[in-house]
Amino acid sequence: MPLRTTRLMLAEEPGAIEHAAEVLLDGGLVAFPTETVYGLGALGLDSDAAGRIFEAKGRPSFDPLILHIAHAPELERVAEVNEAAWRMAERFWPGPLTLVMPRSTAVPDIVTSGLPTVAVRVPAHPVAHALLEAVGEPVAAPSANPFGKLSPTTATHVRTGLSGRIDVILDGGPTARGLESTIISVAEDVPVLLRTGAIPAEEIEEMLGVRLERHVPTSRPATPGQLDSHYAPHTPVIVSTEPVADPSRTGLVVLRKTGVEKDFAAVEELSADGDLTEAAKNLFAALHRLDALGLDLIVVRPVPETGLGAAIMDRMRRAAFREDE
Ligand code: TXA
Ligand code: MG
Repeated sequence: MPLRTTRLMLAEEPGAIEHAAEVLLDGGLVAFPTETVYGLGALGLDSDAAGRIFEAKGRPSFDPLILHIAHAPELERVAEVNEAAWRMAERFWPGPLTLVMPRSTAVPDIVTSGLPTVAVRVPAHPVAHALLEAVGEPVAAPSANPFGKLSPTTATHVRTGLSGRIDVILDGGPTARGLESTIISVAEDVPVLLRTGAIPAEEIEEMLGVRLERHVPTSRPATPGQLDSHYAPHTPVIVSTEPVADPSRTGLVVLRKTGVEKDFAAVEELSADGDLTEAAKNLFAALHRLDALGLDLIVVRPVPETGLGAAIMDRMRRAAFREDE
């Protein structure tokens, strides 16, 4: 792919959002902050523009994109919306919930990987919102990282992974949630949880008054975020409570320090209070930091799998998965 000059701009810089919107409207690629992780945006209803996302990320074409819109009523342009979808949209948007629904003919095949459904969300970040309003069109955006690697929660993470491959990075500071959106399919009668994420499944079940079906993976995943190996740092990762052979060459990730970690080369404490919301927010940045140290191993101590803990452990297991296992 042709090399691009990547311009890093502070989102609050006067004219930055307008410039980024113009780049998008010209078919370019713009990374921008959302409340979950940074997204890599392109015009979502333009197949050439959306195609450039796959090139820049090295993303396989079978992995569909999420459309981002400024306001819920714009849903009707891109999807067939049923009552369950409107109820969830009303309750959780703007916010970290992605809804999968039957697509409309306006959506190009490249965005949905040819699936009959489309994924859509309204992000709750002022920069993302201002950008979407300035563009006035749905923006397709996966997480702004090379395919299969750790998701970016800062503009620096985006630059390290994608510099020279995209046009603009809008820096809006570290993201507030740190975990990707929860993905729910409402394409069938029973809502299905396709990906755990920043909204705990229990919260959605409580609101809907039904239990979400859990997606059972098949050979071609309905959601490639569900590929076994994903969100992976370069350094090998294991999730384990066992002692480690060579702590001096090992980085450790713990929810809270217990005082026995001093032999490790580096320790990342996700939340001194043991708070899972804070831990989710810090998770990817902690892994990015440990990965940059060039150690032999990263060991993750498990966290309780309640609330956001389920999504945290999902990401950790995928970071740890190796093909030869
Ligand atoms: O929080 C987020 O969701 C972030 C920010 C940027 O919005 N985006 C994100 O995108 O995580 P990405 O591409 O890394 O993950 C989106 C997931 C993919 O695993 C994809 O397979 C799934 O959404 N997806 C997209 N369209 C789908 C569809 N029609 N059916 C099932 N899954 C779909
Ligand atoms: Mg991703």
